Amino acid sequence: MNDKAIHRLYRHFQELPLGMRTLFTGALMVLGLGYLFAALYVFAAHSGADGKPGLSVDDIKITYSGSTEVTPLEKALRGPMSGMLPQKDLATMLKWIREGANKRAYTSTIETIVEANCLACHDGSNPHLSNLDGYEKISEVVVQDTGADLFTLVRVSHIHLFGLTFIFFILGFIFSHAYLRPVWLKLTLIMMPFAGVTMDVLGWYVTKVFTPFAWVVLIAGVINGVSFAAMWVVSMYQMWFYKIPDHVRDRHGPSDPDTWK
Ligand code: HEC
Repeated sequence: MNDKAIHRLYRHFQELPLGMRTLFTGALMVLGLGYLFAALYVFAAHSGADGKPGLSVDDIKITYSGSTEVTPLEKALRGPMSGMLPQKDLATMLKWIREGANKRAYTSTIETIVEANCLACHDGSNPHLSNLDGYEKISEVVVQDTGADLFTLVRVSHIHLFGLTFIFFILGFIFSHAYLRPVWLKLTLIMMPFAGVTMDVLGWYVTKVFTPFAWVVLIAGVINGVSFAAMWVVSMYQMWFYKIPDHVRDRHGPSDPDTWK
């Protein structure tokens, strides 16, 4: 890889016909907008998972692996609802939750406790309180959050892999017309997002069973974002504002830039 040498087939943006530059610019504009919305979506969809504002590693862990926190019912019973029922019944309910909240125990003991102590408020008449009337309803507050299920991950994976490959292929193809030295830097920028996308998607599955891997997912997101931004800015700049170095411009002999259209 000689950094001085320029490949025979290389064309800088400014040596391309105006039509191609216009096409590239249009594609860059819309892709850039798309990337902003994608970032916004990721932020909105995941940032609140740990109950704190902002996107953190914990949010990623919870999204893919689920929460190690107690179920909403246990949280309420240990917190604000603890005074709503006799201590003995509280212990019975907590034990029931811990043992998997099955229907048989519900019918034999829990139903009467709930009816006597909870339904006065949680009978569904108040839309702001969860309805605890019946096994199906109460089950909704004793589900353990196990994170994204495998089927969802597989579905999102293939969309992600195909979709992002299209985006980064188009972006990398446009960017390949930029003049950037050292050459390894240019090649790294082109390759980075493909590594990033792979790391990201495989990272989801590993995070599901091994939560420290959430860092890999986060770093992959940063890699994609940085390479996207770098290729976008360099392409746009070199397409319209950049002055090609003389040795690149005159590599085929002297030429007149005014005749390039
Ligand atoms: C006097 C009315 C009242 C009774 C009785 C009552 N709750 Fe609540 N419950 C509330 C209110 C008000 C909230 C929301 C405010 C809060 O979280 O402190 C709430 C919140 C909850 C929540 C969390 C938020 C939600 O709506 O899902 C759970 C779970 C819950 N209660 C379960 C129970 C259980 C189980 C019992 C019976 C042992 C019970 N409550 C008895 C009034 C009541």
